[in-house]
Amino acid sequence: PEDFGRDAAGRLTVGGIPADELVGRWGSPLYVYSEDAFRRRARQFRDAFAEAFAPLGAEVSVYYAGKSFLTTEVVRWVREEGLNVDTASGGELAVALRGGMPPERIALHGNNKSAAEIVRALEAGIGRIVVDSLAEIELVGRLARGLGVVAPVMIRVTPGVHASTHEFIATAHEDQKFGLSLAAPEDGGDSPALQAVAACTADPALDLRGLHCHIGSQIFDAEGFGLAAERVLALAAEAAERFGTELPELDLGGGYGIAYTEADDPRPAREIAESLAGKVAAAARALGTAVPHLSIEPGRAISGPSGCTLYTVGTLKTVAVEPGAQRRYVSVDGGMSDNARPVLYGADYTAVLAGRPAAAGPVLSRVVGKHCESGDVVVRDVYLPEDLAAGDVLAVPATGAYCWALSSNYNWVPRPPVVAVRTEGEQPGARLIVRGETEDDLLARDLGA
Ligand code: LLP
Repeated sequence: PEDFGRDAAGRLTVGGIPADELVGRWGSPLYVYSEDAFRRRARQFRDAFAEAFAPLGAEVSVYYAGKSFLTTEVVRWVREEGLNVDTASGGELAVALRGGMPPERIALHGNNKSAAEIVRALEAGIGRIVVDSLAEIELVGRLARGLGVVAPVMIRVTPGVHASTHEFIATAHEDQKFGLSLAAPEDGGDSPALQAVAACTADPALDLRGLHCHIGSQIFDAEGFGLAAERVLALAAEAAERFGTELPELDLGGGYGIAYTEADDPRPAREIAESLAGKVAAAARALGTAVPHLSIEPGRAISGPSGCTLYTVGTLKTVAVEPGAQRRYVSVDGGMSDNARPVLYGADYTAVLAGRPAAAGPVLSRVVGKHCESGDVVVRDVYLPEDLAAGDVLAVPATGAYCWALSSNYNWVPRPPVVAVRTEGEQPGARLIVRGETEDDLLARDLGA
Protein backbone atom coordinates (compact mmCIF):
# COMPACT_ATOMS: atom_id res chain seq x y z
CA PRO A 1 0.00 0.00 0.00
CA GLU A 2 0.98 3.59 -0.56
CA ASP A 3 2.26 5.73 2.31
CA PHE A 4 -0.69 8.08 1.82
CA GLY A 5 -3.39 6.94 -0.62
CA ARG A 6 -7.13 6.38 -1.07
CA ASP A 7 -8.98 3.10 -0.65
CA ALA A 8 -11.82 1.83 -2.87
CA ALA A 9 -14.33 3.66 -0.67
CA GLY A 10 -12.51 6.96 -1.27
CA ARG A 11 -11.10 7.22 2.23
CA LEU A 12 -7.60 8.55 2.81
CA THR A 13 -5.29 5.78 4.00
CA VAL A 14 -1.92 5.76 5.69
CA GLY A 15 -0.02 2.60 4.86
CA GLY A 16 -3.34 1.09 3.79
CA ILE A 17 -5.18 1.95 7.03
CA PRO A 18 -8.14 4.33 6.63
CA ALA A 19 -7.76 7.69 8.37
CA ASP A 20 -11.21 7.50 9.96
CA GLU A 21 -10.33 4.15 11.52
CA LEU A 22 -7.20 5.69 13.05
CA VAL A 23 -9.30 8.52 14.48
CA GLY A 24 -11.90 5.99 15.67
CA ARG A 25 -9.20 4.20 17.59
CA TRP A 26 -7.08 7.07 18.95
CA GLY A 27 -9.27 10.14 18.62
CA SER A 28 -8.31 13.48 17.12
CA PRO A 29 -6.31 15.54 16.65
CA LEU A 30 -3.89 12.76 15.80
CA TYR A 31 -0.38 12.89 14.37
CA VAL A 32 0.09 9.95 12.01
CA TYR A 33 3.46 8.99 10.54
CA SER A 34 4.19 6.55 7.78
CA GLU A 35 7.21 4.76 9.20
CA ASP A 36 7.90 3.41 5.71
CA ALA A 37 8.03 6.94 4.28
CA PHE A 38 10.28 8.16 7.10
CA ARG A 39 12.71 5.28 6.68
CA ARG A 40 12.71 5.56 2.90
CA ARG A 41 13.49 9.29 3.04
CA ALA A 42 16.30 8.63 5.52
CA ARG A 43 17.77 6.02 3.17
CA GLN A 44 17.41 8.34 0.17
CA PHE A 45 19.56 11.00 1.83
CA ARG A 46 22.06 8.40 3.01
CA ASP A 47 22.42 6.74 -0.40
CA ALA A 48 22.17 9.81 -2.63
CA PHE A 49 24.97 11.63 -0.80
CA ALA A 50 27.15 8.55 -0.40
CA GLU A 51 26.90 7.84 -4.14
CA ALA A 52 27.49 11.45 -5.19
CA PHE A 53 30.62 11.81 -3.03
CA ALA A 54 32.12 8.33 -3.50
CA PRO A 55 33.70 9.21 -6.88
CA LEU A 56 35.47 12.09 -5.11
CA GLY A 57 36.92 9.65 -2.60
CA ALA A 58 34.89 11.24 0.20
CA GLU A 59 32.56 9.63 2.69
CA VAL A 60 29.34 11.18 3.95
CA SER A 61 27.67 11.03 7.37
CA VAL A 62 24.01 11.93 7.62
CA TYR A 63 22.84 13.33 10.94
CA TYR A 64 19.06 13.38 11.21
CA ALA A 65 18.09 16.71 12.82
CA GLY A 66 16.15 15.55 15.85
CA LYS A 67 14.68 18.97 16.55
CA SER A 68 12.23 18.41 13.67
CA PHE A 69 10.66 15.36 15.38
CA LEU A 70 12.29 13.08 17.91
CA THR A 71 10.98 10.24 20.06
CA THR A 72 12.76 7.09 21.18
CA GLU A 73 10.97 5.14 18.44
CA VAL A 74 12.19 7.62 15.82
CA VAL A 75 15.72 7.21 17.17
CA ARG A 76 15.38 3.49 16.48
CA TRP A 77 14.31 4.11 12.86
CA VAL A 78 17.22 6.49 12.35
CA ARG A 79 19.69 4.08 13.94
CA GLU A 80 18.44 1.09 11.94
CA GLU A 81 18.70 3.05 8.68
CA GLY A 82 22.33 3.83 9.46
CA LEU A 83 21.97 7.56 10.11
CA ASN A 84 23.40 9.52 13.01
CA VAL A 85 21.41 12.01 15.04
CA ASP A 86 21.87 15.71 15.66
CA THR A 87 20.54 16.99 18.99
CA ALA A 88 20.07 20.58 20.05
CA SER A 89 19.57 20.31 23.82
CA GLY A 90 20.14 18.08 26.82
CA GLY A 91 16.57 16.83 26.36
CA GLU A 92 17.09 15.72 22.78
CA LEU A 93 20.39 14.16 23.80
CA ALA A 94 18.57 12.19 26.52
CA VAL A 95 16.01 10.92 23.99
CA ALA A 96 18.76 9.90 21.55
CA LEU A 97 20.58 7.96 24.27
CA ARG A 98 17.36 6.41 25.62
CA GLY A 99 16.45 5.42 22.05
CA GLY A 100 19.65 3.41 21.86
CA MET A 101 21.71 5.56 19.53
CA PRO A 102 25.39 4.73 20.01
CA PRO A 103 26.92 7.86 21.64
CA GLU A 104 29.58 8.22 18.97
CA ARG A 105 26.78 8.73 16.43
CA ILE A 106 25.28 11.70 18.31
CA ALA A 107 26.09 15.39 17.79
CA LEU A 108 25.20 18.20 20.19
CA HIS A 109 24.37 21.70 18.99
CA GLY A 110 23.30 24.93 20.62
CA ASN A 111 24.32 28.56 20.98
CA ASN A 112 23.99 28.50 24.76
CA LYS A 113 24.70 25.01 26.03
CA SER A 114 24.80 24.74 29.80
CA ALA A 115 27.80 23.27 31.60
CA ALA A 116 25.49 20.43 32.68
CA GLU A 117 24.59 19.67 29.05
CA ILE A 118 28.24 19.67 28.01
CA VAL A 119 29.26 17.42 30.92
CA ARG A 120 26.44 15.02 30.09
CA ALA A 121 27.59 14.89 26.47
CA LEU A 122 31.22 14.32 27.45
CA GLU A 123 30.35 11.65 30.02
CA ALA A 124 28.18 9.83 27.49
CA GLY A 125 31.06 10.00 24.99
CA ILE A 126 29.11 11.54 22.15
CA GLY A 127 30.70 11.91 18.74
CA ARG A 128 30.88 15.66 18.52
CA ILE A 129 30.00 18.89 20.20
CA VAL A 130 29.44 21.73 17.76
CA VAL A 131 30.89 24.77 19.49
CA ASP A 132 29.28 28.10 18.84
CA SER A 133 31.38 30.81 20.53
CA LEU A 134 34.87 31.52 21.82
CA ALA A 135 33.58 31.37 25.39
CA GLU A 136 32.15 27.93 24.76
CA ILE A 137 35.45 26.64 23.36
CA GLU A 138 37.06 27.67 26.63
CA LEU A 139 34.25 26.06 28.65
CA VAL A 140 34.26 22.74 26.78
CA GLY A 141 38.06 22.57 27.11
CA ARG A 142 37.90 23.19 30.84
CA LEU A 143 35.10 20.66 31.43
CA ALA A 144 36.82 18.01 29.31
CA ARG A 145 40.07 18.48 31.24
CA GLY A 146 38.16 18.14 34.49
CA LEU A 147 36.72 14.82 33.33
CA GLY A 148 40.04 13.64 31.92
CA VAL A 149 38.66 13.26 28.39
CA VAL A 150 39.33 14.81 25.02
CA ALA A 151 36.26 16.50 23.55
CA PRO A 152 35.59 15.98 19.84
CA VAL A 153 34.43 19.34 18.49
CA MET A 154 33.33 21.04 15.31
CA ILE A 155 33.22 24.84 15.00
CA ARG A 156 30.01 26.39 13.75
CA VAL A 157 30.79 29.26 11.42
CA THR A 158 28.52 31.77 9.73
CA PRO A 159 29.49 31.90 6.09
CA GLY A 160 27.44 35.06 5.40
CA VAL A 161 25.10 33.39 2.92
CA HIS A 162 21.59 34.75 3.00
CA ALA A 163 19.27 31.84 2.39
CA SER A 164 16.01 32.95 0.83
CA THR A 165 13.60 31.75 3.50
CA HIS A 166 11.68 33.21 6.44
CA GLU A 167 13.82 35.49 8.62
CA PHE A 168 13.27 33.35 11.73
CA ILE A 169 14.67 30.23 10.09
CA ALA A 170 17.48 31.80 8.05
CA THR A 171 20.62 31.34 10.10
CA ALA A 172 23.85 32.06 8.30
CA HIS A 173 23.71 35.77 7.52
CA GLU A 174 25.79 37.95 9.82
CA ASP A 175 23.30 39.61 12.13
CA GLN A 176 21.96 36.69 14.17
CA LYS A 177 22.88 34.66 17.21
CA PHE A 178 24.49 31.51 15.77
CA GLY A 179 28.06 30.67 14.97
CA LEU A 180 31.36 32.44 14.49
CA SER A 181 31.75 34.87 11.64
CA LEU A 182 34.10 34.30 8.72
CA ALA A 183 34.34 38.03 8.22
CA ALA A 184 37.44 39.82 9.56
CA PRO A 185 36.67 42.56 12.09
CA GLU A 186 36.70 46.15 10.82
CA ASP A 187 39.77 47.02 12.88
CA GLY A 188 41.73 44.22 11.20
CA GLY A 189 42.91 41.00 12.81
CA ASP A 190 41.57 37.49 12.47
CA SER A 191 37.94 36.61 11.95
CA PRO A 192 36.14 35.10 14.95
CA ALA A 193 36.04 31.79 13.05
CA LEU A 194 39.82 31.80 12.59
CA GLN A 195 40.32 32.74 16.25
CA ALA A 196 38.13 29.77 17.14
CA VAL A 197 40.29 27.42 15.08
CA ALA A 198 43.39 28.77 16.82
CA ALA A 199 41.79 28.35 20.26
CA CYS A 200 40.72 24.76 19.57
CA THR A 201 44.10 23.86 18.09
CA ALA A 202 45.88 25.24 21.14
CA ASP A 203 43.85 23.20 23.63
CA PRO A 204 44.93 19.55 23.97
CA ALA A 205 41.59 18.75 25.64
CA LEU A 206 39.87 19.51 22.33
CA ASP A 207 40.01 17.39 19.20
CA LEU A 208 38.93 19.71 16.38
CA ARG A 209 37.39 17.58 13.64
CA GLY A 210 36.20 20.24 11.26
CA LEU A 211 33.91 23.12 10.47
CA HIS A 212 30.14 23.32 10.48
CA CYS A 213 27.62 25.70 9.00
CA HIS A 214 23.86 25.74 8.58
CA ILE A 215 22.46 28.40 6.28
CA GLY A 216 18.76 28.08 7.05
CA SER A 217 15.73 25.92 6.56
CA GLN A 218 13.12 25.13 3.88
CA ILE A 219 15.63 25.96 1.12
CA PHE A 220 14.97 24.85 -2.45
CA ASP A 221 17.99 25.76 -4.42
CA ALA A 222 21.46 24.29 -3.97
CA GLU A 223 23.28 27.57 -4.76
CA GLY A 224 23.42 28.71 -1.14
CA PHE A 225 24.85 25.39 0.07
CA GLY A 226 27.51 25.52 -2.64
CA LEU A 227 28.51 29.07 -1.77
CA ALA A 228 28.67 28.22 1.94
CA ALA A 229 30.83 25.18 1.18
CA GLU A 230 33.25 27.31 -0.83
CA ARG A 231 33.65 29.84 1.95
CA VAL A 232 34.02 27.29 4.72
CA LEU A 233 36.56 25.28 2.73
CA ALA A 234 38.54 28.47 2.16
CA LEU A 235 38.67 28.93 5.94
CA ALA A 236 39.84 25.33 6.36
CA ALA A 237 42.63 25.96 3.86
CA GLU A 238 43.64 29.14 5.66
CA ALA A 239 43.65 27.30 9.02
CA ALA A 240 45.94 24.63 7.57
CA GLU A 241 48.31 27.28 6.29
CA ARG A 242 48.32 29.45 9.39
CA PHE A 243 48.23 26.89 12.19
CA GLY A 244 48.92 23.60 10.45
CA THR A 245 45.46 22.48 11.61
CA GLU A 246 44.04 19.59 9.60
CA LEU A 247 40.25 19.83 9.33
CA PRO A 248 39.10 16.58 7.75
CA GLU A 249 35.34 17.21 8.07
CA LEU A 250 32.87 19.66 6.59
CA ASP A 251 29.31 19.75 7.90
CA LEU A 252 26.89 21.71 5.75
CA GLY A 253 23.91 21.44 8.11
CA GLY A 254 20.34 20.82 7.03
CA GLY A 255 17.66 22.94 5.45
CA TYR A 256 16.44 20.93 2.45
CA GLY A 257 12.95 22.13 1.55
CA ILE A 258 9.78 20.08 1.20
CA ALA A 259 6.40 20.53 -0.47
CA TYR A 260 3.74 21.84 1.90
CA THR A 261 1.41 22.82 -0.94
CA GLU A 262 1.50 22.47 -4.72
CA ALA A 263 3.34 25.79 -4.89
CA ASP A 264 6.49 24.18 -3.45
CA ASP A 265 8.80 22.30 -5.78
CA PRO A 266 11.60 20.58 -3.84
CA ARG A 267 14.51 18.88 -5.59
CA PRO A 268 15.04 15.18 -4.94
CA ALA A 269 17.91 14.26 -2.59
CA ARG A 270 19.90 12.83 -5.50
CA GLU A 271 19.85 16.11 -7.41
CA ILE A 272 20.92 18.13 -4.38
CA ALA A 273 23.69 15.64 -3.60
CA GLU A 274 25.07 15.69 -7.14
CA SER A 275 24.97 19.45 -7.37
CA LEU A 276 26.71 19.80 -4.00
CA ALA A 277 29.35 17.20 -4.86
CA GLY A 278 30.17 19.20 -7.99
CA LYS A 279 30.51 22.43 -6.04
CA VAL A 280 32.53 20.94 -3.18
CA ALA A 281 34.86 19.23 -5.66
CA ALA A 282 35.37 22.45 -7.62
CA ALA A 283 36.04 24.46 -4.46
CA ALA A 284 38.55 21.89 -3.17
CA ARG A 285 40.28 21.82 -6.56
CA ALA A 286 40.55 25.62 -6.65
CA LEU A 287 42.07 25.62 -3.15
CA GLY A 288 44.33 22.66 -3.88
CA THR A 289 42.91 20.71 -0.90
CA ALA A 290 41.38 17.26 -0.57
CA VAL A 291 37.60 16.81 -0.65
CA PRO A 292 36.65 16.56 3.03
CA HIS A 293 34.46 14.01 4.79
CA LEU A 294 31.02 15.56 4.36
CA SER A 295 28.23 15.65 6.93
CA ILE A 296 24.69 16.87 6.41
CA GLU A 297 21.84 17.35 8.89
CA PRO A 298 18.46 17.01 7.18
CA GLY A 299 15.48 17.14 9.52
CA ARG A 300 12.37 18.45 7.82
CA ALA A 301 13.11 16.66 4.51
CA ILE A 302 12.97 13.32 6.32
CA SER A 303 10.26 13.83 8.93
CA GLY A 304 8.03 16.47 7.29
CA PRO A 305 6.40 14.61 4.41
CA SER A 306 6.27 11.39 6.47
CA GLY A 307 3.62 12.74 8.82
CA CYS A 308 0.14 14.22 8.62
CA THR A 309 -2.36 15.47 11.17
CA LEU A 310 -5.93 14.21 11.33
CA TYR A 311 -8.60 16.51 12.73
CA THR A 312 -12.35 16.26 13.19
CA VAL A 313 -14.46 19.04 11.74
CA GLY A 314 -16.68 20.96 14.17
CA THR A 315 -18.35 24.30 13.55
CA LEU A 316 -18.81 25.56 10.00
CA LYS A 317 -19.49 29.23 9.43
CA THR A 318 -19.75 31.27 6.27
CA VAL A 319 -18.98 34.96 6.61
CA ALA A 320 -19.14 37.85 4.18
CA VAL A 321 -15.62 39.15 3.52
CA GLU A 322 -16.65 41.96 1.15
CA PRO A 323 -19.74 42.68 -0.91
CA GLY A 324 -20.45 39.59 -2.98
CA ALA A 325 -17.60 37.53 -1.52
CA GLN A 326 -17.81 34.93 1.22
CA ARG A 327 -15.43 32.72 3.11
CA ARG A 328 -16.26 29.46 4.81
CA TYR A 329 -14.56 28.93 8.14
CA VAL A 330 -14.05 25.28 9.01
CA SER A 331 -13.18 24.80 12.69
CA VAL A 332 -11.22 21.73 13.70
CA ASP A 333 -10.50 20.25 17.12
CA GLY A 334 -6.82 21.34 17.28
CA GLY A 335 -4.94 24.30 15.86
CA MET A 336 -1.96 26.41 16.86
CA SER A 337 -1.19 24.17 19.85
CA ASP A 338 -0.45 21.19 17.56
CA ASN A 339 0.81 23.23 14.58
CA ALA A 340 2.32 26.60 15.45
CA ARG A 341 3.96 27.06 12.05
CA PRO A 342 1.21 29.06 10.31
CA VAL A 343 1.16 31.53 13.23
CA LEU A 344 4.94 31.62 13.68
CA TYR A 345 6.12 31.75 10.09
CA GLY A 346 3.01 32.37 8.00
CA ALA A 347 3.49 28.80 6.78
CA ASP A 348 1.05 27.44 4.22
CA TYR A 349 -0.49 23.98 4.41
CA THR A 350 -3.31 22.29 2.60
CA ALA A 351 -6.13 20.03 3.81
CA VAL A 352 -8.15 17.21 2.31
CA LEU A 353 -11.36 15.49 3.28
CA ALA A 354 -10.06 12.19 4.61
CA GLY A 355 -12.90 10.08 5.98
CA ARG A 356 -14.98 9.77 2.80
CA PRO A 357 -15.06 10.96 -0.82
CA ALA A 358 -16.53 14.38 -1.65
CA ALA A 359 -20.20 14.45 -2.67
CA ALA A 360 -20.25 18.06 -3.91
CA GLY A 361 -17.97 20.59 -5.56
CA PRO A 362 -15.23 22.57 -3.81
CA VAL A 363 -15.72 25.88 -2.02
CA LEU A 364 -13.03 28.25 -0.81
CA SER A 365 -12.48 27.52 2.86
CA ARG A 366 -10.23 28.49 5.73
CA VAL A 367 -9.40 25.81 8.26
CA VAL A 368 -9.09 27.27 11.74
CA GLY A 369 -8.31 25.86 15.16
CA LYS A 370 -10.15 25.97 18.45
CA HIS A 371 -7.91 28.41 20.29
CA CYS A 372 -8.90 31.81 21.61
CA GLU A 373 -7.04 33.76 19.00
CA SER A 374 -8.14 34.94 15.58
CA GLY A 375 -4.69 34.17 14.14
CA ASP A 376 -5.22 30.49 14.97
CA VAL A 377 -5.30 29.35 11.34
CA VAL A 378 -4.36 25.85 10.16
CA VAL A 379 -4.84 26.37 6.41
CA ARG A 380 -5.40 29.87 5.11
CA ASP A 381 -6.99 29.06 1.75
CA VAL A 382 -8.12 25.67 0.56
CA TYR A 383 -10.94 24.33 -1.57
CA LEU A 384 -12.93 21.77 0.40
CA PRO A 385 -16.16 20.01 -0.64
CA GLU A 386 -19.35 21.98 -0.15
CA ASP A 387 -20.91 19.01 1.66
CA LEU A 388 -18.24 19.07 4.40
CA ALA A 389 -20.00 18.56 7.73
CA ALA A 390 -19.33 18.38 11.44
CA GLY A 391 -17.79 15.00 12.26
CA ASP A 392 -15.84 14.69 8.99
CA VAL A 393 -12.19 13.78 9.30
CA LEU A 394 -9.76 16.23 7.66
CA ALA A 395 -6.11 15.50 6.97
CA VAL A 396 -3.40 18.14 6.81
CA PRO A 397 -0.38 16.66 5.00
CA ALA A 398 3.32 17.36 5.60
CA THR A 399 3.01 18.10 9.31
CA GLY A 400 5.75 15.63 10.28
CA ALA A 401 8.40 18.28 11.03
CA TYR A 402 8.29 21.03 13.66
CA CYS A 403 4.62 20.43 14.55
CA TRP A 404 4.64 17.88 17.36
CA ALA A 405 8.10 19.28 18.20
CA LEU A 406 6.74 22.81 18.59
CA SER A 407 3.42 21.82 20.15
CA SER A 408 2.16 23.55 23.28
CA ASN A 409 -0.55 23.37 25.90
CA TYR A 410 -2.01 26.75 24.98
CA ASN A 411 -5.51 27.02 26.49
CA TRP A 412 -4.66 23.92 28.57
CA VAL A 413 -5.11 21.76 25.53
CA PRO A 414 -3.38 18.37 25.97
CA ARG A 415 -0.89 17.41 23.25
CA PRO A 416 -2.26 14.83 20.78
CA PRO A 417 -0.91 11.28 20.53
CA VAL A 418 1.44 10.11 17.78
CA VAL A 419 0.76 6.95 15.76
CA ALA A 420 3.16 5.24 13.36
CA VAL A 421 1.99 3.03 10.52
CA ARG A 422 4.27 0.44 9.01
CA THR A 423 3.61 -1.97 6.16
CA GLU A 424 7.07 -3.52 5.96
CA GLY A 425 9.09 -5.30 8.63
CA GLU A 426 8.15 -7.57 11.48
CA GLN A 427 5.25 -5.65 12.97
CA PRO A 428 3.08 -4.19 10.22
CA GLY A 429 0.08 -2.09 11.23
CA ALA A 430 -0.58 1.05 13.23
CA ARG A 431 0.72 1.58 16.74
CA LEU A 432 0.90 4.33 19.28
CA ILE A 433 4.44 5.70 19.68
CA VAL A 434 3.66 8.65 21.95
CA ARG A 435 0.51 8.63 24.02
CA GLY A 436 -1.56 11.79 24.09
CA GLU A 437 -1.58 13.98 27.14
CA THR A 438 -4.57 13.89 29.46
CA GLU A 439 -5.95 16.72 31.54
CA ASP A 440 -4.61 14.84 34.56
CA ASP A 441 -1.11 14.93 33.06
CA LEU A 442 -1.36 18.68 32.80
CA LEU A 443 -2.94 19.15 36.21
CA ALA A 444 -0.33 16.93 37.87
CA ARG A 445 2.16 19.79 37.62
CA ASP A 446 -0.25 22.39 38.99
CA LEU A 447 0.51 22.68 42.71
CA GLY A 448 -2.25 25.01 43.81
CA ALA A 449 -5.67 24.41 45.47
N1 LLP B 1 21.20 21.61 11.58
C1 LLP B 1 21.14 22.73 12.32
C2 LLP B 1 22.35 23.23 12.96
C3 LLP B 1 19.92 23.41 12.45
O1 LLP B 1 19.87 24.51 13.17
C4 LLP B 1 18.76 22.89 11.84
C5 LLP B 1 17.47 23.55 11.98
C6 LLP B 1 18.87 21.70 11.09
C7 LLP B 1 20.11 21.09 10.98
C8 LLP B 1 17.71 21.05 10.42
O2 LLP B 1 17.11 21.85 9.47
P1 LLP B 1 16.00 21.20 8.50
O3 LLP B 1 16.69 20.21 7.61
O4 LLP B 1 14.98 20.57 9.35
O5 LLP B 1 15.46 22.36 7.75
N2 LLP B 1 11.00 25.59 13.46
C9 LLP B 1 11.33 26.01 12.10
C10 LLP B 1 12.62 25.41 11.63
C11 LLP B 1 13.77 25.74 12.54
C12 LLP B 1 15.04 25.11 12.06
C13 LLP B 1 16.11 25.23 13.06
N3 LLP B 1 17.32 24.58 12.71
C14 LLP B 1 10.19 25.61 11.17
O6 LLP B 1 9.23 25.02 11.64
O7 LLP B 1 10.24 25.89 9.97
